[in-house]
Amino acid sequence: KRMKVVVSRNLGPDVMPLLQERKELELVVWPEDRPCERKWLLENIPGAIGVVVMLSEKMDQEAYDTAGPSLRVISTMSVGYEHIDLQLAAQRNIKIGYTPDVLTDAVADISVMLALMAGRNVRETTELVGRGDWPKTAWAPFGFCGPQLSANWIHNTRTAGFIGFGRISQATLTRLIPFGFTNCVYMSNPSSKPNPEADAETARRYNLRSVRRVGLDELAAESDVVFVLAPGGASTYHIVNEDFLRKMKETAVLVNTARGTLVDSDALAKALREKWIWGAGIDVVEGEPSVGLDHPLVKEPRCVVLPHIGSATIETRLGMATTAAKNLLGALFDEPMPAELKR
Ligand code: GLV
Ligand code: GLV
Repeated sequence: KRMKVVVSRNLGPDVMPLLQERKELELVVWPEDRPCERKWLLENIPGAIGVVVMLSEKMDQEAYDTAGPSLRVISTMSVGYEHIDLQLAAQRNIKIGYTPDVLTDAVADISVMLALMAGRNVRETTELVGRGDWPKTAWAPFGFCGPQLSANWIHNTRTAGFIGFGRISQATLTRLIPFGFTNCVYMSNPSSKPNPEADAETARRYNLRSVRRVGLDELAAESDVVFVLAPGGASTYHIVNEDFLRKMKETAVLVNTARGTLVDSDALAKALREKWIWGAGIDVVEGEPSVGLDHPLVKEPRCVVLPHIGSATIETRLGMATTAAKNLLGALFDEPMPAELKR
């Protein structure tokens, strides 16, 4: 009897053959080019030995119970895993695969891009050109000015702040060094131990003046740009709130390329409207994808909003899909999994 594997999105012509060539597998693939319906997933999951899912598929108790005791592996095409109940997975001896590392550079790239876009008024100005209004404005000595991200003759140093200091934060930091950033402050999971020696080592490695783990207040006050790059979930919910935003510099920008739930959207809209901060660049929004023209952040001209495309490069998505397929195969055929989530 073949082993049933449910795949919630078609992984494309370069990756599907990795699964199709394993004749031991019975593949059940969601046939449409949109997120798989919960009803379809629950109808097809009974008796499955493995599933390949996206962030949109909640793997909760109902999904596990409906799958039954056959389920041995959940492979998600994402680095985040808050859609998967890990405790239940551990209890039931289900392996979890995810896709870290392959997306680190793509997300770091887009984080720097959003910092530049938010500071340099790219949304307002590209919309102006798109409306045909360039002839009305021309070049003006102080037209469309914003704060300079790189160190400059007035500010000879810049400080980057990171909420979460994992792989993506560090890759973002390395991109900022040629911009003249000399200081880094960051906030980490309170359950992890402070490690000043490792921070000093990071500073030496990148030739920075300082790398310091700080509290939220200090992070807000010192940063010229704040990057939100921590996991979602209850422990980080609305960590960027009104209080935090009020403490930021008026010329600073906020970048969120992690999860929408870390930022209180109403507070951020207010901060932009009342000019507590200069601008924001966000790739994720709480409640996405229900983010229409009436959303408070879409209405703010100083907020650049992207529809969750942080990892969307051709190379990275191919890497993520390949990793997701190989994680599944590794778990099922006792081969190494490229990225097993161990907790
Ligand atoms: C994207 O948000 C991911 O978790 O991979
Ligand atoms: C978080 O996923 C990170 O890699 O920083």
